[in-house]
Amino acid sequence: MSKVTVVGAGNVGATVANVLAHKDIVREVVLLDIKGDLAKGKALDSWQQAPIDYYSTRLTGSDDYKDTAGSDIVVITAGIPRKPGMSRDDLIGINAGIVSSVTKSILKHSKNPIIILVSNPLDVMTYAAHSISKLPATRVFGMAGILDTARYRAFLATALDVSPKDIQAVLMGGHGDTMVPLPRYTTVAGIPVTEMITSKKLKAIVDRTKKGGGELVKLMGTSAWYAPGAAAAQMVASIVRDERRIFPCCIKLNGQYGIRNTYLGVPVVLGKNGIEKVIKLDLNKSEIKLLKNSASHVKAVMKVYDKMKTKKK
Ligand code: NAI
Ligand code: 2OP
Repeated sequence: MSKVTVVGAGNVGATVANVLAHKDIVREVVLLDIKGDLAKGKALDSWQQAPIDYYSTRLTGSDDYKDTAGSDIVVITAGIPRKPGMSRDDLIGINAGIVSSVTKSILKHSKNPIIILVSNPLDVMTYAAHSISKLPATRVFGMAGILDTARYRAFLATALDVSPKDIQAVLMGGHGDTMVPLPRYTTVAGIPVTEMITSKKLKAIVDRTKKGGGELVKLMGTSAWYAPGAAAAQMVASIVRDERRIFPCCIKLNGQYGIRNTYLGVPVVLGKNGIEKVIKLDLNKSEIKLLKNSASHVKAVMKVYDKMKTKKK
């Protein structure tokens, strides 16, 4: 019996709410946006889908944080998406302000929610929301790894002409071109992927995965929403049902993998308390090198955010 708030009723936020309602596992989803009646309209449309698709989850839309009171989980998708030619990091100027004010507003009405960040640049927006909220790091984390892994798995499924259901993989690092897909931890129905595909083809898929978000921005003029929305809803489901599924999530690292005070995607167990456990993989030297390179990229953007805060004071 949970209440979930999704902030931002744009492409991703509306999809999170809609996919979550279809799972029929929470009592209520509140969709909130500052854009007039947009959230009310999208929530009403999704509620009118309930008699057709058979779910009971109540969907309501609002522009008033009072309606989010007592939320167990909050998914923040508010902010601008990138346009062709932009990197995720280019969004920090606008999205840092939005994510900060959304986090503060949420906490006025919900005391101890679990907050899942989606807004970009994801790793740094997780840092912003976590530091502003002062909630434990186990309760504030970001969605990116499920999406990036899904892209990698989908590309492999196409190349091998098999079902994506049978492709399991681990991908770590920041949500950007330095992300680290891990072929050594990729299997196809239990078979190491390296036995199924040439290293040249695998390398091309790893490279395509790293640029997967940009590929869609080029095609659509804005960023993706179906897979991102489904990924965030899957995280909510693992928490609400206390499934303890293992997903790569963006969390604050405090020494794991030799990385400290940096927000980065690593595999975790996700359950009713949020991050229940961080999984420690036995990475080899070259994998660690790639992860540390990704961490230093994220750290540089975290510093940009720190400078923005100092200027504001
Ligand atoms: P969108 O433009 O369709 O929707 C964003 C919504 O946020 C708009 O409806 C806007 O009115 C709302 N908004 C802006 N400021 C607000 C505020 N202060 N309070 C409440 N609502 C506010 O954008 P889209 O495509 O939904 O993307 C949202 C964010 O998610 C972007 O930053 C995008 O880069 C990011 N994203 C992250 C992914 C990830 O893997 N972490 C994947 C896809 C998108
Ligand atoms: C994506 O990877 C833009 O972060 C978003 O699609």
